[in-house]
Amino acid sequence: SPPLRILGIETSCDETAASVVLRDDEGGGRILGDVVLSQLEEHSAYGGVVPEIAARAHVEALDALIAEALLRAGVTLREIDAIAATSGPGLIGGLIVGLMTGKAIARATGKPLYAVNHLEGHALTARLTDGLSFPYLMLLVSGGHTQLILVKGVGRYERWGTTIDDALGEAFDKTAKLLGLPYPGGPAVERAARAGDPERFDFPRPLVGDARLDFSFSGLKTAVRQAAQALEPVTDKDIADICASFQRAISRTLKDRVGRGLKRFKAEFAAAGEAAHPALVVAGGVAANEMLRTTLQSLCDALGFRFVAPPLALCTDNAAMIAWAGAERLAAGLPADGLDAAPRSRWP
Ligand code: KG4
Ligand code: ZN
Repeated sequence: SPPLRILGIETSCDETAASVVLRDDEGGGRILGDVVLSQLEEHSAYGGVVPEIAARAHVEALDALIAEALLRAGVTLREIDAIAATSGPGLIGGLIVGLMTGKAIARATGKPLYAVNHLEGHALTARLTDGLSFPYLMLLVSGGHTQLILVKGVGRYERWGTTIDDALGEAFDKTAKLLGLPYPGGPAVERAARAGDPERFDFPRPLVGDARLDFSFSGLKTAVRQAAQALEPVTDKDIADICASFQRAISRTLKDRVGRGLKRFKAEFAAAGEAAHPALVVAGGVAANEMLRTTLQSLCDALGFRFVAPPLALCTDNAAMIAWAGAERLAAGLPADGLDAAPRSRWP
């Protein structure tokens, strides 16, 4: 297919983002202009994302961000081949803002609109950054999702595992909150863990050994609460030890759960010669975690997988991945969406 330039819009959570991405005629990708505005400060006082505040902040920022992304890319709206906007899953107010803006631009310019599933954006990012070919496995670990997904092709995904309770990022955030650490909790827990003893507490590793590929993290959070309550008053040393032990439990859990998924992938594809260089891709904000990266890297080394971790800015929420998903769908000849496409807060 000819080179494509796609405008992407992302507003599903607490990042307002716009991006212009190029897909060249050989299928390679390049980010031409990319802007992300985090609402972290608007929400930090509340210890979590407040949907109404998020939606209003998206309204205020989005138009200027789109103009900025186009400016940085050096293209006008007329030179864009299609518009891709996240239409779910996520917070409904923000989704409405982004999708309606995308529809308005599509209507005004006469260009096709792609209503993109946010998870599809995460799933295809490794093809933009690393030119990965299908099939591969993706572990998505963010504040809202913990999923192991088989990526077979554009629009062809199988969910192999998901969390039956808290998302992994949520477990970090809740643990941080009950230890009195700042929001967002992931970076704070990781920092505190550096000085801690990972052997001091033997926290549970839910579902380890289970034949399914699901995850569970709420029991871990409960165990942390009980450990902290038993110690009252909790010292800095206690907090460091709890955080280190918490991360150790997660590392062991991931090793078991993801390891099982990699073996299944090998049995289904690599053995049949369909994936000569099997790969595991990580995405989502928790991918910033050093312990998680080390765990996945050594797991991949042991099982003969290539471990692909896109640059952090493309692991967390961004619009380049949404633009890229639109480009992939357009190039694959998949139909665009109508202007009646509806935002979907839940969209597995
Ligand atoms: O993908 P993301 O930026 O946004 C959404 O989930 O919408 O992920 C944010 C999550 C938060 O739960 C945050 O605590 C977690 O990623 N996170 C981390 C780290 N950095 C961010 N978790 C563990 N270790 C980190 N270094
Ligand atoms: Zn995300």
